[in-house]
Amino acid sequence: MVGNTNSDSFAGKRVALCVSGGIAAYKAIDVLRGLQKAGCVVRVAMTRRACEFVQPLTFRALSDHHVLVDDYAADNPDPIAHITFSQSVDLIIVAPATANIIAKFANGIADDFITSTYLAAFAPVIVAPAMNTAMWEHPATLRNIARLRADGIHIIEPEHGRMACHTIGAGRLAEPDVIVQAALDVLSSQHSPSQVSSSPNPSSTMNINGFDFTGERVLITTGATREAIDPVRFISNHSSGRMGFALAQAAHARGAHVTVIAGITSVAPPAGIRLVRVASADEMHHAVMKEIERSTVFIAAAAVADYRPRERHAHKIKKNGDRSLTLHLEPTIDILASVAAHPSRPTNDLIVAGFAAETSDLIRHARTKLEKKNLDLIIANDVTREGAGFNHDTNIVTLLARDRIDAPRELPLMSKLETAHRILDEIKRLHPSHTHIEHDLGIESRL
Ligand code: PMT
Repeated sequence: MVGNTNSDSFAGKRVALCVSGGIAAYKAIDVLRGLQKAGCVVRVAMTRRACEFVQPLTFRALSDHHVLVDDYAADNPDPIAHITFSQSVDLIIVAPATANIIAKFANGIADDFITSTYLAAFAPVIVAPAMNTAMWEHPATLRNIARLRADGIHIIEPEHGRMACHTIGAGRLAEPDVIVQAALDVLSSQHSPSQVSSSPNPSSTMNINGFDFTGERVLITTGATREAIDPVRFISNHSSGRMGFALAQAAHARGAHVTVIAGITSVAPPAGIRLVRVASADEMHHAVMKEIERSTVFIAAAAVADYRPRERHAHKIKKNGDRSLTLHLEPTIDILASVAAHPSRPTNDLIVAGFAAETSDLIRHARTKLEKKNLDLIIANDVTREGAGFNHDTNIVTLLARDRIDAPRELPLMSKLETAHRILDEIKRLHPSHTHIEHDLGIESRL
């Protein structure tokens, strides 16, 4: 269902609808109609392959404009159309976007009208992929999608369902009204002064979810804690901070005010967030507790030590011949459980999400943590899987929400940024009323 389609609000908005060659090309007709209904002026461009699925004449008749396929075609009234066209529109939508065109965009290849238009454009771009499930889940496509997201492109996730190739899975083009609504959200955000950004790539701060975390105050822990044994030795783990920083980047891009409490990390934090550095579990606990009352979402991505040495030696422990050394460990405080039990949780409507880093029996352990710690969401992370867990740019996680405890949702291998967006989508699903609310907490709402 398209929400805001008041034709006055979008009258005169110029949209380029680019159709690439997939079976879903016929759905672009409904996207065209929906945009026109909202008052937009739509010009259509097609790849040569797309013309095999739908005749350019159909789009020409409906859009009342010449359909661009080839800059250099004899019937093209503008010989440098990819420049004029790309720089005279307010928005570019690519629907359906094939794996091929996504790969070209991700790599800056400009070998036809649409890919040249993409490179020459200043306007925001929405990409709505559609392809066979195996192609959609292929690491190459996931890499390319992550690249496009990082370039500030708005991705409309394909849907899950029966495919033209008679298989069932993810890869169906999103419904036309979803694409139209996303387009209207992006067009609306263009003339909203509150969304002007100082980011070097303004479009990367816009989101297809329409800044759906605006007003949220997201608190994230990330990285490893370090528990001192003596002045030179410590207990720690392999966490790099990538997963938590990816969550911070995604939440910031979706309009949230983000604070990260980072332990020891080996990667740079994203721009635009507030960062508090700590080392031990105890310091992380204190820093989190100072922030929690003003937070609306808490995500614990840090790898926190469960135990620390009972005593910290003031001087370096000396080697004592061949005699063994016994270290006595005591449990650290569980930060996540303390947040979940915090008295302000009901008042703030705080959403509490944690990770479960496991090496066996993933779902059973994750479910136990969700229940024992009283969480809204647990992100189960089998850190033994190739491409998952510590120190990779990618992850493979399973989402287990409190209201779907018997229906874990495994996500395929994807970049940590993409994983972060899926986690935020799940948080939004768990608490839709959290969206678009400016929480009045008496404190500055954006940095
Ligand atoms: O940082 P990267 O290199 O990108 O790696 C990402 C990651 C593997 C660290 C991340 O995806 C992940 O799985 N983080 C959780 C690691 C962990 O400590 O899991 P756990 O199952 O031991 O703990 C469960 C939850 O309780 C976690 O959310 C943890 O942050 C939290 N916890 C644990 C102990 C403690 N004392 N306090 C806590 O808050």
